[in-house]
Order: sequence, then C-alpha cells, then structure tokens
Amino acid sequence: MPFERVAAFADIPPGSMIDIEGAGGDETRMVVICNIEGELHAMDGRCPHRDGPLGQGALHGRMVVCPWHAWEFDCVTGRNDHDPSLRQRKYDVRVEGDAVLVDL
Ligand code: FES
Repeated sequence: MPFERVAAFADIPPGSMIDIEGAGGDETRMVVICNIEGELHAMDGRCPHRDGPLGQGALHGRMVVCPWHAWEFDCVTGRNDHDPSLRQRKYDVRVEGDAVLVDL
C-alpha cells in the first residue's frame, strides 16, 4: 500500500496528537497520530465502544482517552488499558522532510 502525506511534522509536536481521515482502499479511515517523545505512532481513530473519535480526545503520556466515555488506548501498541483483547489497528507512519506519511 502506498504511503500518503497526511500532515506536516511541525503540526504534531511531542505530547500532542491529531486525527486525520484518509482513503484506504474503498473506505475512509479515521486515524489518530500521536507524537510520543518525538516518535510518531498511528492507530485506528475510531473507538470500538461506540465509534467515538479518539483523535478528538486527550493524550495522557502514550494513552489516548476517548472523548465520549473515556476508554483508553495505548497509541504505541493500540491496546486498551482494561481489556488486552481490545486492540486498535496500527498503521505504519514515517517522516520525510517535514511531511508525515501514513500507510493507509
Ligand atoms: S465511544 Fe469511546 S469510550 Fe465510548
């Protein structure tokens, strides 16, 4: 799958996250990109509870907190903090120059 430019690296400083929508095949995908201590991580941005927009929640350390009912997911591993069987899909992300690219 091709990598797509989704943001500028400067738009995601350490300790922050953004949500993006990108076309992955036939569907539009919500993806949250977190900057954890200078390293970018990308995972599915749709909460498995009731489809809340994870990228519009809060980032506490490496945990993304859903804005609707506060379920938490580790942006590095994709795992839910209470139920390890719940795991968000991860996406490959890389930086080229100032561009952030995600493999959707
Ligand atoms: S929709 Fe995310 S916690 Fe309920």
